[in-house]
Amino acid sequence: MMALAQRVAQAADLVTVALDELLPRAEGPEQRLTEAMRYAALGPGKRLRTFFAIETGRMFELDDRPVLRAACALECIQAYSLIHDDLPCMDDDDMRRGRPTVHKAYDEATAVLAGDALQTVAFEILAHPDTHTDGAVRAEMVLRLALASGAKGMCGGQMIDMMGVKDDLGTVARMQRLKTGALIAVSFELPVIMAHASEAERHALMAFAQDIGLAYQIVDDLLDAEGDAAEMGKGVGKDAEKGKANYVTLLGAEAARERLALLSEQTKAHLDPFGARADFLRASVDFVLDRRS
Ligand code: IPE
Ligand code: IPE
Ligand code: MG
Ligand code: MG
Ligand code: MG
Repeated sequence: MMALAQRVAQAADLVTVALDELLPRAEGPEQRLTEAMRYAALGPGKRLRTFFAIETGRMFELDDRPVLRAACALECIQAYSLIHDDLPCMDDDDMRRGRPTVHKAYDEATAVLAGDALQTVAFEILAHPDTHTDGAVRAEMVLRLALASGAKGMCGGQMIDMMGVKDDLGTVARMQRLKTGALIAVSFELPVIMAHASEAERHALMAFAQDIGLAYQIVDDLLDAEGDAAEMGKGVGKDAEKGKANYVTLLGAEAARERLALLSEQTKAHLDPFGARADFLRASVDFVLDRRS
C-alpha cells in the first residue's frame, strides 16, 4: 500500500486536475474574475479536506471520480473562505499558500467577486448529475455543504472571530467548531451521504471528524504562535499580534500540546468500528498533528 504522504500528494494532484477542468474560463472583462478564481483555487493548498473525502470514499468503496467532484466543491468553499479571510476588512494578510493573497495579486473588488463565484461553483458542482445519479443524494449533499458554510457554520465562526473572543475557552471552542470544524466535518459527511452509510457509521465518523477538526485547529494555533512563515506560506504570529484568543493564547503552548496528545488517541478510537478499512484515516490523525505548514 502507498505510504500516507504519497497518498495525500496523490489526492492533492487529483483534485487540482479536476478543479482545473471544472472551474470556468471566460473571455472579455470577466476573464479577470475567472483568472482570480483559478489563482486561488489551483494554488498549492494542502488539500486536507480532499484527502479526508477521498479516503472516506475509498473506505466505503466508492469510485474516486464522483467523490473527487465533492472534493472540488469542498476546495472551492475553502478557497473562497481564505480569499475573504485575507481581505483588509478581515485579517488583512498579504501572503497565502506562499504567494500574494488574491486582493494583492489582483484587487479587493476582484477578490470579493472571486470568493463569491467560487462559492457558487461549489454548489453548481454538487448539484450536477455527474456528482450522483440520485437527485435526493445530491440535494442532501448541497444541504450539508450549505449548512457547514453559512451562518451556522464557517461564516458564523468567522463572525465570532471578528467580534473578538477574550479569555473564554468555551467561546474559542465554539468558534473553532463553526469556523473550521464544520467544513472539515462535511468533508467526511459528503462521501458518507454518497455511500448510504448506516447511522452508526455516520455517527462514528462525525465524532472522528469533530475531534480531528479540533486537533487541526490547535495545531493551526500552535503554528501561528511558533511556526515558520516561509514554511507555512502565510504570515505567523497574527493571532497574538491582533490580541485574538485561541487555544494557544489561552492555554499556553505546553498545555495545548498535552491536549493534542490526549486528543490523538481519543480521535483514533472513533474509528474502531471500521477496523483495518480505516487505516488511512487513522494515520491521517498523525499527519494532521505532525504538519509543519
Ligand atoms: C487554513 O486552512 C485556514 C484554516 C482553516 C485555519 P488550511 O491550513 O487547510 O489551508 P490550505 O487549504 O492548506 O491552504
Ligand atoms: C480562517 O482562520 C478560517 C477560515 C474560515 C478561512 P484563520 O484566519 O485562523 O486562518 P489563517 O491562519 O489565516 O489561515
Ligand atoms: Mg481569520
Ligand atoms: Mg486569517
Ligand atoms: Mg490561524
